Amino acid sequence: TEAGLRELLASRIRDVPDYPQPGVVFKDITPLLADPAAFSALTDALVERCTALGASKVAGLEARGFILAAPVAVRAGVGFVPIRKAGKLPGEVFAQSYELEYGSAVMEVQQGAFEPGERVLLVDDVLATGGTAGAALELLRRAGAVPVGLSVLLELGFLGGRERLGGHLDGVELDAL
Ligand code: PRP
Repeated sequence: TEAGLRELLASRIRDVPDYPQPGVVFKDITPLLADPAAFSALTDALVERCTALGASKVAGLEARGFILAAPVAVRAGVGFVPIRKAGKLPGEVFAQSYELEYGSAVMEVQQGAFEPGERVLLVDDVLATGGTAGAALELLRRAGAVPVGLSVLLELGFLGGRERLGGHLDGVELDAL
């Protein structure tokens, strides 16, 4: 059941207080990754989303998003596209800066990664402030793709990411497992 899946996944995510800095509670997904039943159940749920949305690519966000997204692409029988921190992808890229808690960063996607109008499911582990996901959705659109879904394992609702994403979510189904 869906409730059973949620319970299983929640039981495999570890809260680490004061990491990486005091006052922050880090969500450690490594117990989930180490449990083949839980990792597989998560993958199946995301494959279902991918298929239901008619996505023909899965995009993953560096770094933990890569781990979750790649097996979804393989099982769904679609391609995987990495969205990476600046300077890691060869050739022509689209670059998008986004706000961090302190300062800003840049993410990139390769030009030509998508067919024009291609439907894409974006996958990441955590939606926090929404800065990262907003930049990624912008990159997908600039690359000619149509983001149709944003699937995250965890949504930290108290940080208001969903609200901050606002219009970035137009036409995008956001779901947290
Ligand atoms: C974390 C997480 C998300 C992002 C969410 O990644 O994996 O990608 O932060 O935060 P936001 O909603 O406030 O933007 P991080 O930048 O720590 O990168 P990493 O996965 O490479 O460690």
